[in-house]
Amino acid sequence: MELHAMDLYIKSLIKEAGHRIRNSFISDITIETKSDANDLVTNIDKEIEQFFIERIRRDYPGHRIFGEEGFGDDIQHLEGVVWMLDPIDGTMNFVHQKRNFAISLGVYEKGTGQLGYIYDVVNDDLYYAVRGEGAYYNDEKLKPLIDTSIAESIVAINASWLAPNRYLDHEAAIRLVQTVRGTRSYGSAALELAFLASGRIDAYVSMRLSPWDIAGGAVIAGEVGAVMTNFKGEAANLLKQDTFIAANPSIHNIMLSDYIRLK
Ligand code: IPD
Ligand code: CA
Ligand code: CA
Ligand code: CA
Repeated sequence: MELHAMDLYIKSLIKEAGHRIRNSFISDITIETKSDANDLVTNIDKEIEQFFIERIRRDYPGHRIFGEEGFGDDIQHLEGVVWMLDPIDGTMNFVHQKRNFAISLGVYEKGTGQLGYIYDVVNDDLYYAVRGEGAYYNDEKLKPLIDTSIAESIVAINASWLAPNRYLDHEAAIRLVQTVRGTRSYGSAALELAFLASGRIDAYVSMRLSPWDIAGGAVIAGEVGAVMTNFKGEAANLLKQDTFIAANPSIHNIMLSDYIRLK
């Protein structure tokens, strides 16, 4: 794969998609629900996914596409080149706030992330990485993550997991929020990974994420040294939904051993 040519191609594709999303703000959007009343999808999520897929199929016909809204391929294995796309990550924010959402895209070859992009559409901020060449926030090269401690960390976590639940040791999670310097909840897994990569937060934990939520961000955050696993400490799954923790390497182990524990 010629990564630098692809990188330029993808950046221009993402900017064009962003332009389309910003234009949608002046027209009426159609909102539907998916698995439950709070799981939203709009015609724009679907149109943007279709826009990417049409272009990728035209320009990279041998590649496969794994997209959230289901217009891509049925992906059961990671042989060859797979593009993992979330056309709008943070749809609830898109609908309610018209900000705090992103386009997320990762390109994987035989299961290894080669290119990663997270585009904060409203702020026109692009986070990206080419494997082995470091990660960037617009024109700025991101620095490797520096060591920290739990007590000095800002951790992104969804408040709903602090309520008693079947899966997570919520008392340990409560201890975490009592110990860290601060908590945040941005509502877009992709942006949360971008913020981890740029050192604005130190960890991000989620009970359930899909491959397209993390694919782009994993390449970017990996380039600055972030560690990403499921709650059992296993490599993040790129074929199905799973628990997910991404953290500064100096706190990843202790987060899992002492605070984020499955029941
Ligand atoms: C969602 C967002 C959200 C996370 C959910 C995801 P979507 O993606 O990333 O922050 O908590 O688990 O499904 O549906 O807005 O693309
Ligand atoms: Ca969704
Ligand atoms: Ca998503
Ligand atoms: Ca989405």
